[in-house]
Amino acid sequence: MSKDKLWGGRFTQPTDKFVEEFTASINFDKRLYHQDIRGSIAHATMLGRQGIIPQEDVEAIVAGLKEILASIEAGNFDFSVSLEDIHMNIEARLSERIGDAGKRLHTGRSRNDQVALDIRLYLRDELEEIDGYIERLIDSLLFQAEENLSVVMPGFTHLQTAQPILFSHHMLAYLEMLKRDQGRMRDCLKRVNVMPLGAGALAGTTFPIDREYVAELLGFSEVTRNSLDSVSDRDFALEFCAACSILMMHLSRFSEELILWSTSEFKFVELSDSFCTGSSIMPQKKNPDVPELVRGKTGRVYGNLMSLLTVMKSLPLAYNKDMQEDKEPLFDTIDTVKGCLKVFADMVREMRVDPARMLKAAGAGFSTATDVADYLVRKGAPFRDAHEAVGKAVRYCIENEMELDELTLTEWQLFSYRFEDDIFAAITIDASVNARLATGGTALERVQAEIARAREGR
Ligand code: ARG
Repeated sequence: MSKDKLWGGRFTQPTDKFVEEFTASINFDKRLYHQDIRGSIAHATMLGRQGIIPQEDVEAIVAGLKEILASIEAGNFDFSVSLEDIHMNIEARLSERIGDAGKRLHTGRSRNDQVALDIRLYLRDELEEIDGYIERLIDSLLFQAEENLSVVMPGFTHLQTAQPILFSHHMLAYLEMLKRDQGRMRDCLKRVNVMPLGAGALAGTTFPIDREYVAELLGFSEVTRNSLDSVSDRDFALEFCAACSILMMHLSRFSEELILWSTSEFKFVELSDSFCTGSSIMPQKKNPDVPELVRGKTGRVYGNLMSLLTVMKSLPLAYNKDMQEDKEPLFDTIDTVKGCLKVFADMVREMRVDPARMLKAAGAGFSTATDVADYLVRKGAPFRDAHEAVGKAVRYCIENEMELDELTLTEWQLFSYRFEDDIFAAITIDASVNARLATGGTALERVQAEIARAREGR
């Protein structure tokens, strides 16, 4: 009855049409075609080398698979829902073309280990691309840091002016985050790059296969060590989704800052017109759509991690069809993260900063109050007393509607006898920034050194 199905032997009734659609994954797993074909070529080559199938069959299989690859890439391969997934679409077509040789391809293999292999190959390829996209964004950050090396801006805590910092220092904060993201991706790759084929359906295979050879052909650094785990493990995909969630959290924070900095209230930066859109009603608007969308898309990447964690949480060993639900969240995460990184790299490179606006804001809000306290400490005051004295000076300024740098020496001395003439030089914006010289601080010299370090490491 189920003559068109590769597994039709034990069935007497055809699959319900809706069930066929419901269970099929071809509409989304067809993007694994390249990996599926690569995997099958390696598997067939190994089967031939081990004398499990005749050499002439291997040649026919390899040639047939290459033809199928070409026809998929040319866009004239007819994917069929009744053949369920990419694995059976390709295998069925191969057998149609080359007959019995094609039907020998699946010897010593199951779709369970086959799909595990395909996803690992796919993710490995994508991780390499993502690494490149992260590099590009890091490059844009370095570009902005170098272009605006000594531009000063207010640093914030609680979104309130805290201390002056260099804009370049702020850019390098994101560089640190992205470096860690890159590290997490590279670490994840170690667990992705393990070869599962040979697990069969779950227990291994009775054929004298050579798994290490398949791993070598496909560039894997190791083979999996337990057949049950090989077909039921999706940790590598989860790890990837977790690393992507953290990365998106970083991009989302950056987005939030860019949105804020683009407001007419802040006006610290201006995003290039090509990354913004207008309003259909308010003619004055230039909306930061790109950072807003990146911030919004963070939600779907978190959601994908949750989906996959939840799909996996109660699955008994080994394979269960639930696991077919791994692909859409994984693919969506890959597409989203790549898109966000790509658009961010260009947007950051092209944004323009307004040094005058930033400097003005950096000097407001008593941003050098800590420097005054540190000054008193250098003059011998215990830090807590200094803090108290400067707090009083700040209150005096608030009451008299002035900033700290407008106080006269006589006024300063109302708060501590330790104030002398050198207080004025100690609390300029530049002095404040450049005094923060310890490793990791915002002093110009330090930031320059960190830029050099980042450049060297690339
Ligand atoms: N399309 C399936 C998936 O994505 C392939 C593995 C199917 N194996 C099975 N025994 N039904 O998970």
